[in-house]
Amino acid sequence: MKILITGAFGQLGSSLEESLSSKYEIYKTGRSIPKGEVGIELNIQNIVYLKEVLNTIEPDIIINLAAMTNVDDCESHPELAKQINAESVQNLVNCFNGKIIQLSTDYVFDGNNGPYSEDDIPNPISIYGATKLISEKIILNDTNNLVIRGNVLYDHSLNNKASFLTWVVESLLNKKRIRVVNDQFNNPTWTKSIADVIQLCIIEDTKGLYHWADEDYLSRFDFALKIAKKFNLDISLIEPITTDELDQLALRPLNGGLNQNKIKKDLKLVPPSIDNCLDAIIDRGVI
Ligand SMILES: NC(=O)c1ccc[n+]([C@@H]2O[C@H](COP(=O)([O-])OP(=O)(O)OC[C@H]3O[C@@H](n4cnc5c(N)ncnc54)[C@H](OP(=O)(O)O)[C@@H]3O)[C@@H](O)[C@H]2O)c1
Repeated sequence: MKILITGAFGQLGSSLEESLSSKYEIYKTGRSIPKGEVGIELNIQNIVYLKEVLNTIEPDIIINLAAMTNVDDCESHPELAKQINAESVQNLVNCFNGKIIQLSTDYVFDGNNGPYSEDDIPNPISIYGATKLISEKIILNDTNNLVIRGNVLYDHSLNNKASFLTWVVESLLNKKRIRVVNDQFNNPTWTKSIADVIQLCIIEDTKGLYHWADEDYLSRFDFALKIAKKFNLDISLIEPITTDELDQLALRPLNGGLNQNKIKKDLKLVPPSIDNCLDAIIDRGVI
């Protein structure tokens, strides 16, 4: 089976390749190909090139990871966010008849009442969340497709500027003080954990909307403390602050996060704990 991954050189892309490459023919595509990596250049906004790549590869499944994921950038460039996160997803649907697996986010919710289940009504409070919600609707117009919502993905990777775990570890190793919000709650998820779930969904041909998140529901500050303790770093360098103090452009859901009961029941899964994931990451080392 041929699987084409868009946005494959981002944070989740590397874990996904690791989970899938022994079983499937994987085609990694990216808006640009980082030095030392191998892949196909594909900007999903470019419909002409998108058609060409799809005609050449003829994938059975597309996993769409490509997205404008910087929440504040989306707020300051709403038109671009809409083009990448929503209109380009429509491009994929228009150009491809096979199954599409789309990654979405708990940011489709307002964060008044998380963790959220699939039946809860979305109410995005940021452009990022709003554009991702549009993408879900586009994808779910075809009942064969799958949307998996995730939240706060992490791994220990020096190549990824978006990794919260790497930011905490590298800052504390360098004795740098960090300020971490203590009023945003969610269930951080190891990229390998969600990548393995995506693999299982391919095997089971899962359709519709599902939430996946690891077990622990906690504040970002408590997550940073857990990381510091596991990596034997100085927790006194971590200062708790409120989201308001950060004065970010986009609003953040405070009580966000995802309830995983539906997928736990349907696919007989048990989400891992943060402690177990961090132990596995420490055993494996930084990538
Ligand atoms: N990270 C999280 O905490 C989280 C939580 C929930 C859901 N998700 C969703 O999971 C998916 C993967 O997230 P991630 O953490 O791997 O994000 P990421 O590290 O930001 O990766 C996204 C990738 O998409 C690429 N991209 C952006 N615009 C593109 C375009 N027009 N055409 C092709 N590629 C494009 C980016 O390339 P450039 O490097 O060139 O920008 C980047 O490599 C996204 O859909 C995201 O919304 C992420």
